[in-house]
Amino acid sequence: MDTNSGTVAVQNAHAADGLIDRFFQVRAFSEKIVEPLSPEDCVIQSMDDASPIRWHLAHTTWFFETFLLKPSGDYRPFDERFEYLFNSYYNSVGEQYPRGKRGLISRPGLAETLDYRSHVDQAMRSLVEGHDLTDEERQVLEIGIHHEQQHQELMLTDLKHALSCNPLAPVYRDGACEDLDTAVGQSWLEFDPGVVRIGHDGDSFCFDNELPRHRVFLEPFQIADRCVTNREYLEFMEDGGYDRPELWLSLGWTAVNEHGWRSPLYWTKTGSRWSHFTLSGRKPIRLDQPVCHVSYFEADAYARWAGCRLATEAEWEHAVCSQLDDPFSATQRGNWSDELLRSGRCIHPKLSGTDSYCNPQSHYGGIDGDDPDQPPLADAMGNVWEWTSSHYSAYPGYHAPAGALGEYNGKFMCNVFVLKGGSCATPSGHARPTYRNFFAPESRWQFTGIRLARC
Ligand code: AVJ
Ligand code: FE
Repeated sequence: MDTNSGTVAVQNAHAADGLIDRFFQVRAFSEKIVEPLSPEDCVIQSMDDASPIRWHLAHTTWFFETFLLKPSGDYRPFDERFEYLFNSYYNSVGEQYPRGKRGLISRPGLAETLDYRSHVDQAMRSLVEGHDLTDEERQVLEIGIHHEQQHQELMLTDLKHALSCNPLAPVYRDGACEDLDTAVGQSWLEFDPGVVRIGHDGDSFCFDNELPRHRVFLEPFQIADRCVTNREYLEFMEDGGYDRPELWLSLGWTAVNEHGWRSPLYWTKTGSRWSHFTLSGRKPIRLDQPVCHVSYFEADAYARWAGCRLATEAEWEHAVCSQLDDPFSATQRGNWSDELLRSGRCIHPKLSGTDSYCNPQSHYGGIDGDDPDQPPLADAMGNVWEWTSSHYSAYPGYHAPAGALGEYNGKFMCNVFVLKGGSCATPSGHARPTYRNFFAPESRWQFTGIRLARC
């Protein structure tokens, strides 16, 4: 191997170049999400869990300012007071403005928030032009890019929730949702018992919570080759699913009664017809799209009703990784939000078990027979986040990183469950099978769905 220092320096410079290009691409996509919105759309906060769009635009900017630009020394902050205003939860940075009151902040307005973004973007340009980034700076830059992508998903889901509160059912962006109703079969994939490895490996980016890679023992199990559909979920509803306490975890039954849940979030029944609110307005329920906007409790109750269970995180990861060529890098193929926006489609999950829009013939395994090029779990990535039965806990040997970024993931490892796969609101280049998303079991506003498993 040629390790003379000149070659290494050139390689580092190239690596940094690639990263800064990626930085600008990802920054631009956040602004693209906002394009169809009015300043008023960007202010409201519809619930404590959701944030105003403008807050997301500012907080992602704050991240680069706080963790990269300020420590680099030669940087003039856009406004010193933003350190407090746009700090989400980093106690080592300082106090935070209360999360549930983000909707009360009308200033900086949208225009000034966008100015804040360009100020930081320019400073980022100067930083990389000024010197070759240190390894640590490159790591923070890479985390910042992935952090902004996480917030791009949250912008879409928070916006959907905010718009859904308006009885006029506003359209974020007109776009075709796949509108076929074609019942697709479901089959089981079987896995032998044994010791397998889960967690991230290799040089590609991962978050700290995906480490360390470690062994787990799996009993024999079966996992469904597609997610549960609206058609199937309706059968559960029509079979009294929401009225039968024996199907529910105790906390789930309490949630059903407290919130009056009778269907997934965003569903409305008019006469005998179900419709749901989407980012392209109110649309009829399509029976063979994967069900989404269900809580962990609903996913768990559905699985019990169906005589099955949810997969554990390890089962899910082992099953999906065993079918992908490169399970450690961001998954290319998927129903990702940036591609949906670019091609003018609705940001909504696609027909279960199809490999492309409006092409039910491509259902691998069912209608057209097995397609050797399309492994059955290939659409597990990028459609709906799939609830697992696994509590979000530290992997054996996990250490939160030193410093403020140690607060990024580790401190949330309590009372939340792991979701796998990525959704139609996730941008491409972000999710991989080892990725660990996590939400509280009663959350429903993410694009969350159900994949069954059984012994
Ligand atoms: C991984 C989506 C649960 O929403 O808090 C954003 C992502 N982390 N900023 C969250 C995140 C830091 C995180 N989730
Ligand atoms: Fe954040």
